[in-house]
Amino acid sequence: MGSSRLKGKSLSKICGEPLLLKVLNQVKGSSLITDCIVVTTDLVEDNAIQELCQENNCKVFRGNKDDVLSRYSKAAEITNSDVVVRITGDCPLIAPDTIDEVIKEFLNAKCSYASNTFPYTRSEGQDVEVFSVDTLRYTAKNAFEEIDKEHVTLFMKKNRLISKINVSHQYYAFTDLKLSVDYNEDLNFVRKIWSNLEKEFSKKEFYTYSEIVMALKKIENIKSKNIINDGLYMSILNSTNDAPAEPLSLSNSLSLLDESNKYIPGGAQTYSKSWRPHIKGVSPIFLESGKGSIVKDVDNNEFVDLIQGLLPNILGYANDEINKTITEIAKKGHSFSLPHKLEIDLAKKLCQIIPCAEKVRFGKNGSDATAGAVRVARAYTGKENVAVCGYHGWQDWFIGSTSRKAGVPKGTIDLVHTFKYNDLVDLERVLMKKKGQFAAVILEPVNFFWPKENYLREVKEIAHKHGALLIFDEICSGFHFGIGGAQELFGVKPDLATFGKAMGNGWPISCIAGKSEIMQVFEDAFFSFTFAGDVASIAASLKVIEILEKGNAYENMRAAGITICDGAKAMAKATGLGDYFKLHGHHNWSIFDFIDQNGNSDSAIKALWIQEVTRSGVLILTTINISASLDQYCVDKVLKAFAKGFKRVKYCRDNKLDPKDLIDGPIPIPAFKAR
Ligand SMILES: Cc1ncc(COP(=O)(O)O)c(C=O)c1O
Repeated sequence: MGSSRLKGKSLSKICGEPLLLKVLNQVKGSSLITDCIVVTTDLVEDNAIQELCQENNCKVFRGNKDDVLSRYSKAAEITNSDVVVRITGDCPLIAPDTIDEVIKEFLNAKCSYASNTFPYTRSEGQDVEVFSVDTLRYTAKNAFEEIDKEHVTLFMKKNRLISKINVSHQYYAFTDLKLSVDYNEDLNFVRKIWSNLEKEFSKKEFYTYSEIVMALKKIENIKSKNIINDGLYMSILNSTNDAPAEPLSLSNSLSLLDESNKYIPGGAQTYSKSWRPHIKGVSPIFLESGKGSIVKDVDNNEFVDLIQGLLPNILGYANDEINKTITEIAKKGHSFSLPHKLEIDLAKKLCQIIPCAEKVRFGKNGSDATAGAVRVARAYTGKENVAVCGYHGWQDWFIGSTSRKAGVPKGTIDLVHTFKYNDLVDLERVLMKKKGQFAAVILEPVNFFWPKENYLREVKEIAHKHGALLIFDEICSGFHFGIGGAQELFGVKPDLATFGKAMGNGWPISCIAGKSEIMQVFEDAFFSFTFAGDVASIAASLKVIEILEKGNAYENMRAAGITICDGAKAMAKATGLGDYFKLHGHHNWSIFDFIDQNGNSDSAIKALWIQEVTRSGVLILTTINISASLDQYCVDKVLKAFAKGFKRVKYCRDNKLDPKDLIDGPIPIPAFKAR
């Protein structure tokens, strides 16, 4: 009854009956639940709940308001059950068949905890959690944080010793809807659905999931959810204070940097992996090991890695299946003197999964692939100019278009022309500058901003009208946006496409894929280097694709990505930073920034936020790169770290402090801006 958002909601009427009675009747429709018990507080205001339960022959357990977990475990002890099914009292539309599906899978899996919420396949409000009484006992004994006591099952979700599964329902619809009741508008929405249910199927004790979906289909202009799990994000935020996070011990990192500077110009092999984009003195500089999404630095600090090596580790570090594949290859030799059959297997596989792929060539880095694609486009069209949009690698043909062009010949710089994303007029303008002289238009089909409707289709038409080929640079979008890349997602086939990064889960491999007639020009255009056909990376890539195709990697990424992104937005809003903190992109790959009142990036505030997040155990640049290995343990750590970041930014703003005074190192300056 004491819900802070909608007081007395349990007894609010839905089609003439209290909400809680609706929940009870839906639960009783389950064919696998043998006993039902309502767990509520011992506050006087909840006497009415007890009365309602007694009138309806349902057991009630009442206990301490603040320790929901202990209430739960005591309630479980007074039943004779060995398995508990948790349904929250704000879900009047919980379907009995949803409940039974989760129970069945829990029993089949012989695990300790099962739910259907990470990720959701059915709408929020169809939430079911199943766990053994032993798991509940263990949780009650070991969960000490206030937030674990409030959220009952949070400890089970994030504790890695508790074996768990997520249940994905095969039949689902309206996944983006919220069917639970937290606010008045939710209640009114549920009332509408319920009256449709009674109209369509007459008044019944309970309704099945497909009946609920049919009732939903009768409602016009349904609004999808904003943010689910709001309550959890707020609890994490409320349990975080605004004191600065503890500085990390970084002495080994810093002394290795001194050593490295003597021998390695730039201090790293990749700009974005060097100390430069991080806050020196605050963030680690050298890593030592990684497993899944967790990395350890040379000072033994542990982090959840939201950089994942600049996107390659889509399945996480040291993935067991990939390691096994690589070890077997290593035993039999890999950098051979002649081609290996696995090259054909991978090429065939890529031709099956990538819409534009009819033939394929392999490289090691994304830059190999983009340079090769541009080379072949020039050879095929007999033209030299290239229109570019975004970042396409370190090589002369492209980097001459950025401010980092030291060492690039002027003649090469003159051949590359930049156009703006999502702006067809700008593309036309660029192509008209050297009419009929363009070999290719190359762009990332999507990055942090979605293409406008028909944009990609029209880019293709315009490129072809000017006699240029269309190349999609899918080095980042490839695999992260689904197995066929952005070209499959948006239904536009380019002439050529490049893939890299996640293709080998960190084993170096990239490729150019495209139309057979164009790819055939590689017979003449030179694209040849010693390690291009290295069998280890080719085998790794085949394994990555197999895992992505058959397993639940994309589901895990969706669950982690949506939870982290929603959590960030919800916490920003709750700390009054909603208009200030911006997050764009796909849930698997997004970018954030803090924007000042003039619309400019506030690099000092961003650095303060990153400092606190890093010190709270999350390694991050300015993007959120999601890996399938982010489990709920990691997600919980990330959300707590974000909460610290937002609390510190709020503290800084509320006290009108200069963020620079709260940052313990220089604010990083980006190398250049290409996106
Ligand atoms: C879109 C895009 N294309 C090409 C590249 C170059 O790839 P690599 O760094 O593997 O050479 C990158 C690297 O970040 C990229 O983001």
